[in-house]
Amino acid sequence: MIRRIHYAIIDSTNSEARRLSENGLDEPLLVTATEQFAGRGRHGRAWHSPRGGAWMSLAWPVRKPPIAYAAIALPAAVGVHRGLRDVVSYAADFRIKWPNDLLVSDQKVGGVLCEQLISGSRADALVIGVGINVDFDLAELPSDLRHPATTLRAAFGKNYDVEKVIEAVSERLAEVIADFEAHGLTSSLVKEVQDNLAYLGKVRSITIGGETIAGRVAGIDDAGRLLLDTSKGRIACETGEFAAAHEAADRNRM
Ligand code: BTN
Repeated sequence: MIRRIHYAIIDSTNSEARRLSENGLDEPLLVTATEQFAGRGRHGRAWHSPRGGAWMSLAWPVRKPPIAYAAIALPAAVGVHRGLRDVVSYAADFRIKWPNDLLVSDQKVGGVLCEQLISGSRADALVIGVGINVDFDLAELPSDLRHPATTLRAAFGKNYDVEKVIEAVSERLAEVIADFEAHGLTSSLVKEVQDNLAYLGKVRSITIGGETIAGRVAGIDDAGRLLLDTSKGRIACETGEFAAAHEAADRNRM
């Protein structure tokens, strides 16, 4: 059982998990909130976090050199994917949009923000922040989100208990992170991402360092890089923002 601290409202569970980890962590710690007033997404974006969402951050004591966690985005995505299927159904078609957005019917239902606190001391920690849109009115979200969003309620037409989502997702997340910490990015983990990858065989674009490249999604490689077949051959992307090719020109980042 992971130790947990819950807030009715907080700026960001990731920020709070970082503050709580500053003096070192002896064991994993789960920070959750009913609402966040300054929720953070990837690439410095805001993450809208009304009541009815599962807003959680798993602070994880680092036991290996930071490089061992470089591919953390993928095990994090797998943990969230497993947890969502536990709650909703094993038949539900959740897809992982590389590196770690969770989609259902091409709409974003969850996102992950991984942060590493490196101080060179025992205070080193990982913070894996997960946001799942569970059961709130979609009108509570801004209309100009980069990727169309949904909630579990809207996608599956029934009410879901936020607490059950937190329990399932945090448990699965801890399970996969522990496995990844012990064994690295194993072929079975890579396969689980590949089997559930969004846009396989479709043309998408990626923006890396300001440059946007379009290509057909070919999967991920052993190191967890996204493989794109472009007009200049196959490229492996370690990082970058992955978008619909036609969106690249105007909305060019995700
Ligand atoms: C993304 O898709 O951009 C990542 C979104 C991550 C949001 C979660 S909600 C809980 C945790 N606290 C935050 O401030 N962010 C993460």
